[in-house]
Amino acid sequence: MRGVRLRAPASLDNLTLADLPDPGDPGPGEIRVRLAASSLNFHDYAVVTGMIPAADGRIPMSDGAGTVEAVGEGVTQFKPGDTVVSIFFPEWIDGAPPATAFRGVPGDGIDGYAREAVVTPEHWFTRAPEGYSAAEAATLTCAGLTAWRALFVDGRTRPGSTVLVQGSGGVSVFALQFAKAAGARVIVTSSSDAKLERLKALGADEIINYKEVPAWGAQALELTGGTGVDTVVEIGGAGTLDQSMVAARVGGHVALIGVLAGFSGPVQTALLMAKNLRVQGLTVGSRQQQLDMIAGIEANGIRPVISDHFPLEKLADAFRHQAANAHFGKIVVDI
Ligand SMILES: NC(=O)c1ccc[n+]([C@@H]2O[C@H](COP(=O)([O-])OP(=O)(O)OC[C@H]3O[C@@H](n4cnc5c(N)ncnc54)[C@H](OP(=O)(O)O)[C@@H]3O)[C@@H](O)[C@H]2O)c1
Repeated sequence: MRGVRLRAPASLDNLTLADLPDPGDPGPGEIRVRLAASSLNFHDYAVVTGMIPAADGRIPMSDGAGTVEAVGEGVTQFKPGDTVVSIFFPEWIDGAPPATAFRGVPGDGIDGYAREAVVTPEHWFTRAPEGYSAAEAATLTCAGLTAWRALFVDGRTRPGSTVLVQGSGGVSVFALQFAKAAGARVIVTSSSDAKLERLKALGADEIINYKEVPAWGAQALELTGGTGVDTVVEIGGAGTLDQSMVAARVGGHVALIGVLAGFSGPVQTALLMAKNLRVQGLTVGSRQQQLDMIAGIEANGIRPVISDHFPLEKLADAFRHQAANAHFGKIVVDI
């Protein structure tokens, strides 16, 4: 069976196609999944370039989707032929994140889904949305669920809310789509006018080029008549948090998701206090939240935006494409 291994020292040049042992038949409580797609996240990029340490020989990729080929004794949720999608934290089923949830992320702490087949406990996967291809389903594990949780679990997005979404990557395009489906007004930022036009075509109400307008937080505030936005989908981190806090309303929520503009930096604590802001860090979500998201996707007929497909053997090229910011929404790897 084909798969990709990351050899030490981690780098895109050390992603090697390998002949892997077949995972065999599923045991009690397990399913065997024929994987057909994965999708790229910044997290995967951080693993394959060594920003996040991983063991020599690690099979990368946190997201995986495909078809159930066989089920073991006692499996209740799936049958052969079902389309399924992996979950990000295999041991976070529901409720608050357990302290142990953050260990064992596929493609990072344990082997991931850059391979043709896996045998796992059944709860490591959920059903995919009705009518989704494996490629579409594979976009949901990390980016989709993170956007969902930011808006609807930690945030209180509802009709009439105002949401600010940064950039046009995987998490952000999902956030735009989900927020619009919920009836929110959405302000988006991007470094590219061409991408801003595409975001507008997806429903963005207001667009700001963050390269041309460094004080984009103040512009967003102005666009809300000085009130501010209810939720900011913050994917930049240290380099964007100041502007996000400027953009937020009094009592607003900043969903602190990403690190694309820095890992640490000074925080305007006085503004944070004065505006009564809630800055909530988050890491993806639970299995139950994934099931809730899937129900929401089906109810609203949402389809993911996939700008590029690469075959498994071109995984390194897919990451180069991502690093060049050449994508819009998601990049899928077809297995
Ligand atoms: N905490 C979590 O659970 C979680 C889950 C998923 C992702 N993340 C994090 O969220 C971030 C985004 O992940 P992703 O997978 O969506 O990445 P991605 O698809 O690679 O998105 C990259 C996009 O981010 C935008 N961007 C980069 N720097 C920016 C800045 N300073 N201001 C505004 N936009 C900026 C760019 O959009 P334009 O080209 O339009 O400018 C770029 O195309 C990463 O830091 C990732 O680690 C965290």
